[in-house]
Amino acid sequence: MAPIHIDETTGSDTTGTGAPDAPYQTLAYAVFKSATDATFLTRKDASATYDEPTQSSLKKAKKGAEGLEKKRKKAEELAEKSAAAKGEEREKRDRQLEESKKIVLEEDPALATAIKSKIGSLVPLRTKRVRVRGWVHRLRDQKDIKFIVLRDGTGYLQAVLSGKVAQTYDALTLTLESTVELVGQLQALPEGKTAPGGHELIVDYWKILGSAPGGEDAFTNRVNEKSDPSIQADLRHLVMRGETASSILRLRAAMLSAFREVYARHNILEVNTPCLVQTQVEGGATLFKLDYYGQPAFLTQSSQLYLETCLPALGDVFCVQESFRAENSHTRRHLSEYTHLEAELAFIDFDELMTHIEAVICETVDSLLANPATAALIKQLNPTFEAPARPFLRLSYVDAIAWLNEHGITRPEEDAEGNAVKDESGQVKMVAHAVGDDIAEAAERQMTDIIGKPVFLHGFPAELKAFYMKKIPGSSGKHLFTESCDLLMPNVGEIVGGSMRIADAEELFAAYAREGMDPSPYYWFTDQRKYGTCEHGGYGLGVERFLAWLANRFTVRECSLYPRWPGRATP
Ligand code: 4AD
Repeated sequence: MAPIHIDETTGSDTTGTGAPDAPYQTLAYAVFKSATDATFLTRKDASATYDEPTQSSLKKAKKGAEGLEKKRKKAEELAEKSAAAKGEEREKRDRQLEESKKIVLEEDPALATAIKSKIGSLVPLRTKRVRVRGWVHRLRDQKDIKFIVLRDGTGYLQAVLSGKVAQTYDALTLTLESTVELVGQLQALPEGKTAPGGHELIVDYWKILGSAPGGEDAFTNRVNEKSDPSIQADLRHLVMRGETASSILRLRAAMLSAFREVYARHNILEVNTPCLVQTQVEGGATLFKLDYYGQPAFLTQSSQLYLETCLPALGDVFCVQESFRAENSHTRRHLSEYTHLEAELAFIDFDELMTHIEAVICETVDSLLANPATAALIKQLNPTFEAPARPFLRLSYVDAIAWLNEHGITRPEEDAEGNAVKDESGQVKMVAHAVGDDIAEAAERQMTDIIGKPVFLHGFPAELKAFYMKKIPGSSGKHLFTESCDLLMPNVGEIVGGSMRIADAEELFAAYAREGMDPSPYYWFTDQRKYGTCEHGGYGLGVERFLAWLANRFTVRECSLYPRWPGRATP
């Protein structure tokens, strides 16, 4: 019989075989693995020669081998026991399942008629027998009692299933996200216990309306907090069932209602503007173009121009409309389609415009905080949120450039084509800001985060802004400054862009010419200046950005029902 090899340095007890090219590491393991009449050759390391082991080392190794054998037996016994236990468990479960099929639940006609209710309306129905329908949000077994947390969009309800109702086949195989009808008595919670709404349903009858899969295809296997962001995006329809995602959407709805309330109080009328348009507002580079019965058309970038036409007909107006931007921005604050809250006000000046924007925002926040349900949503999503103090800081564009330079916030140097200039080591060259520079997102964010409260940046150079903006009266020289403002919020950056509009027809024609725009498709916009012009101004607020600020979300993508960004239009 060939001798078994052991190399105490390079050998291995896990991958070795005892052959000369695959020695074991320890003599004890070699003895444990080999036949009783085996012979052994050991060496300290590859530089030494193989020798037979001494009698004493062989004796010691045999003792070691006995220990290893004992361990092996013990592990084997344990494995057998656990397999038996598992088998028993499975058998018990199978038996239970078989038994459960015999249990048929029927609603007891002798009990009081159950009142059908949504979860959110249950408080006045305590002590009554009620019927609710919804999705199984959470599921917990405690001994023979089943606890279900049911969700129906109006709230969450804890339901307790015990006795026969917890023993049916449907009860034993119930899965998360299944839809069920639960009937039972609604009871206030005993002292010291907590559950949503402060009550629980003691179920006496229930049935499945639509069962969700278990096993591989179970809901929690498809989405969970650790899922990859692109999977979460593909499964947005499932993700939004979660508590955080649905709370954001709920707050969004409350926020839009609050804005509408505030506008109504200010006598500003809601209008609905078209999505399909044939004019641009914010520059041709971000237009989604489409074929409209053979004519070129676009998805709207902003409803502003239409709102302006409403002033003589309806007075001050606002709209909540989707805006579309075909920009290749993958930042956390850009969407390709976003909800745009825009308003237009007649016979105001620039100072009044900024005061109005501030009022609308603060009154909306106050109204949300005054409502206990929405205040609770804000607390849940953004526990340290505080309503911003008024008045908001106002900082002119020129002062902002100086502020950036004082704080050492630089910008990438650009060549004539707008590409970043790199130094010899390939690093982007950073330079100080100068009047005329666009304040880029990164610098703007740094500035807002340092200032730590809302800031109105105002008076941007005309060359950085859209064609319709009114010049600051008397502005002349190298840079013409406009009556424009961006409202910046900590953590998000710009949430509102607004300005006074050109009221004078001549000035507007000059603006069309400067931007190389053909005035003819804008005849209806120009007519505003012809038939009774007025000083007016307005603004657009990004709903998702406002919500990202209010709910402290990392990205606007979390603040949209089905967000669209470059490459993503699914689901
Ligand atoms: O600054 P913007 O481009 O201004 C306008 O469109 C004006 N015509 C609005 C008006 O005066 N009626 O956009 C206004 C706001 C921004 O401050 C930002 O909050 C949001 O719209 N916004 C976007 N939000 C998400 N994704 C994008 N790609 C956005 N672009 C603008």
